[in-house]
Amino acid sequence: MQRKPFFYDITLRDGNQSLKKPWSLEEKLFIFDKIVELGIPGVEIGFPASSQMDFEACQTLANRSKNTLVSVLARAHKGDIDRAIEAVKNASKPRLHTFITMSPFHMEFVLNKKPDEVAKIAIDAVDYAYKNLIKENNNADIEFSIEHFGDCFENLDFVIDVLKEIVSKGATTINLPNTVERYRPQRFLDMLIKVKENLPENTIISVHNHNDLGMATATTVESFFNGATQLECCLNGLGERAGNTDFNQVAVALNNCGVETGIDLSKIYETSLVISQMSLVKIYEKAPLIGPEALAHRSGIHQDGAIKTKDMNFGAYRPIHPSLIGRYDDEKIGFTSQSGKTAIYDIIKALKYPITIQESIYLTPMAKLLAEEKGELTNQEVLDLYFDKICNIKGAFELISFKPIEKGVFDLFFNFKGERKEVIGQGNGPLDACLNALKSLGFEIKLSHYKQYSLDGLEKGSSASAMSEIFVVDSKNNEIIGRAIDTSTALANVKAVFNILNQIY
Ligand code: KIV
Ligand code: ZN
Repeated sequence: MQRKPFFYDITLRDGNQSLKKPWSLEEKLFIFDKIVELGIPGVEIGFPASSQMDFEACQTLANRSKNTLVSVLARAHKGDIDRAIEAVKNASKPRLHTFITMSPFHMEFVLNKKPDEVAKIAIDAVDYAYKNLIKENNNADIEFSIEHFGDCFENLDFVIDVLKEIVSKGATTINLPNTVERYRPQRFLDMLIKVKENLPENTIISVHNHNDLGMATATTVESFFNGATQLECCLNGLGERAGNTDFNQVAVALNNCGVETGIDLSKIYETSLVISQMSLVKIYEKAPLIGPEALAHRSGIHQDGAIKTKDMNFGAYRPIHPSLIGRYDDEKIGFTSQSGKTAIYDIIKALKYPITIQESIYLTPMAKLLAEEKGELTNQEVLDLYFDKICNIKGAFELISFKPIEKGVFDLFFNFKGERKEVIGQGNGPLDACLNALKSLGFEIKLSHYKQYSLDGLEKGSSASAMSEIFVVDSKNNEIIGRAIDTSTALANVKAVFNILNQIY
């Protein structure tokens, strides 16, 4: 049977303790419900000894919790443990989480204690917690953390000996924090493997990785595949300094590797936005999965792949289909000097204007030049270029006016290579009259078909309200398209004819 991770959320404790304004009881209640809705089965709800407000928040959350395992943090001494037990004891699944550092550096310079003294404090704390919580409540359990475990590679044998005693005193979950991430993930994994091999098989190994070097997700994911079951993570990667392991990234990475996470991944995006608002910690532009830029493509090669695989589950240039995490904004295609024809095509199409790939190819060098100067073009700038270069092609022919004289009869006035021409045309409607007028001067165009669009409701570059598209086939059997826009449909047609003339001549 495949192993399942036990996600353990520490947003309300490690996340909260790092906020500029720690959460109130009401805020904690709201976030707790969000965590439960995600399907996270274990939550550290706070540190009761840190303040009266946090004590009350822990007590209220513990009393309200139903199927979720809830823990409170306590330093390894009687005062903290008593306060913590008082706060958590009425939870349906209460956990006491106690800790002390065992790194040589910290024992010497922060605790000012000898390793044997530290070992005794740790073992006594677990013993005390067991006698005061577990004996009273069969559903309760104890988690023990070696703070700065990641720094304990030189005294790992000592740590393991103490952990064996701690387990014998009743701790069932042993948490291995990389309290400050200083080294490579593999060093941490080697230590984890050694701890696991030396503790009773039913001991639950937990990892708690801070993200000081940006590798916390990697370390946590690989820890799971090397025997850790409990994964301590924070929503949006909140936490001290550069934060704790980001829950979203770990859950999605495991899911991508075929691990059954038990998490409702579709709630991730919305929850992240809420957490960002409530923590006042912005989601940075390039944040994996949830950042505003996480779905943006600017290089021509990436844009091409992204557009070709847009609706597929497996994307050419994205790790997941965004809907997996409940994200429904499209992959963003932005035009810069690095972009290509596919971007022009996609932007114009997304704005609901007609365009062909040939027209995109034609526009691309001009758009690149503009983007070299300005940086990323806005959609409106791409559209303006389209209006200017596709809907208003300059050349030998320059329309001056096209006016009705009487029903079916029109006066066409234009320049050809700078020479003024005026001609009367008759026909079955304005377009026919214009074509006949031009034909009488020797400029024959054989229409294959034409289309008209109303531009109402579209993003417009002018006050135009009609677009005309005229299709002709030239002597070499190539299709030429003339497009134009105007407030009047008749004029849009005539302008489109002139755009064709300027392509032919
Ligand atoms: O980072 C850490 O070491 C901690 C412990 C209290 C688990 O947060
Ligand atoms: Zn921590």
